[in-house]
Amino acid sequence: MIPYGRQNIDDADIEEVAKVLRSDLITTGPKVREFEEALCDRVGAKHATVISSGSSALDIAVRALDLPRGSEVITTPFTFVATANSILHNNLQPVFADIEPGTRNIDPESVRKNITKNTKAVIYVDYAGHPCRMNEMREIADQHGLHLIEDACHALGAEYRGRKVGTFADMTIFSFHPVKHITTGEGGAVMTDSEDLDGRLKMLRHHGITKETPEGLEKGLDYVYDVSALSHNYRITDLQCALGISQLAKLESFIDERTRLAKMYQETLPGIEYVEPPEVDGDVKHAWHLFTVLVNGKDRNGLFKYLRGHGIGAHVHYIPTYRFTYYRGRFKLSPKDFPVTEDVFQRILTLPLHPSLEEKDVRFICDKLAAYDKKEP
Ligand SMILES: Cc1ncc(COP(=O)(O)O)c(C=O)c1O
Repeated sequence: MIPYGRQNIDDADIEEVAKVLRSDLITTGPKVREFEEALCDRVGAKHATVISSGSSALDIAVRALDLPRGSEVITTPFTFVATANSILHNNLQPVFADIEPGTRNIDPESVRKNITKNTKAVIYVDYAGHPCRMNEMREIADQHGLHLIEDACHALGAEYRGRKVGTFADMTIFSFHPVKHITTGEGGAVMTDSEDLDGRLKMLRHHGITKETPEGLEKGLDYVYDVSALSHNYRITDLQCALGISQLAKLESFIDERTRLAKMYQETLPGIEYVEPPEVDGDVKHAWHLFTVLVNGKDRNGLFKYLRGHGIGAHVHYIPTYRFTYYRGRFKLSPKDFPVTEDVFQRILTLPLHPSLEEKDVRFICDKLAAYDKKEP
């Protein structure tokens, strides 16, 4: 099966991990800080907190805002469920906005319509690696006094109007899962320019522990610490960070390769009338985490099964969050309230895209897509 995404790990990556295995500190050691500094250099943010996953990064980002219980946070339903879960984990109310059909990103107009006096933050997702309309998101946030969290798990290396993703929102989240641009196995990061938020994020990564002295204990003793908030063990290891540093040095070449293969799809697919390539705005650099198409006039599930039958790991990103049993049970949500998300969900298909994919694979996938109409078995 040609996978829709996969890691690209070479001998140099393996050697960096092996060096840590031979060292004294295999979990929180010097590689954690080094990886954070490398990420800051790469995206231009002042602070980074690297962590066990993109999901835990989202969780502590929301927690760091310390919002009143029950506050509303607007987000997109067209994402991995971790985005909305981070709101629920923090006893807040997710409010879903609709999306734009071409980029599948949150629709700023729909965000505006959903703002109430209880709205405190917006979490937007740069779907597939295409940055959202940052200027509009910032305008909305400033107008209504809202916090902004950018779920950029798909968008490491992307740019909006010449500026790198990582500094637009109050906090930006990355994921280093194996299908993402770079990997640490599992892993993630929160980027911010705020020293105050950075301090809270580092504390929340590690059980809410600080080196402050709790009441009644003697100052200046090495064993003394305090717990100032409730959190989890979300630490990432030095082993993972060594891999992350080595992978990050190759980000540009990974994105170049993704872009080259995406261009091949974009040039070939318009010849197949029932397959509609995604829109790309002129003012973005796309990071091409996913290549998704809309299927027109044919049954998407039929095409999905046909591709899988030919060894092509097509996928569907995403089942909208409001459709899941847990969310339906907890909230009064109707697919009818999200006409664009529903239409896109019924027709969308992810085609394989990753740096180890070869040109012949893309040609094979496009040939099979074209042959579907001819009812090839
Ligand atoms: C948009 C989005 N947000 C959050 C996550 C969660 O990241 P992780 O798998 O690293 O926990 C993912 C991962 O698939 C994602 O695609």
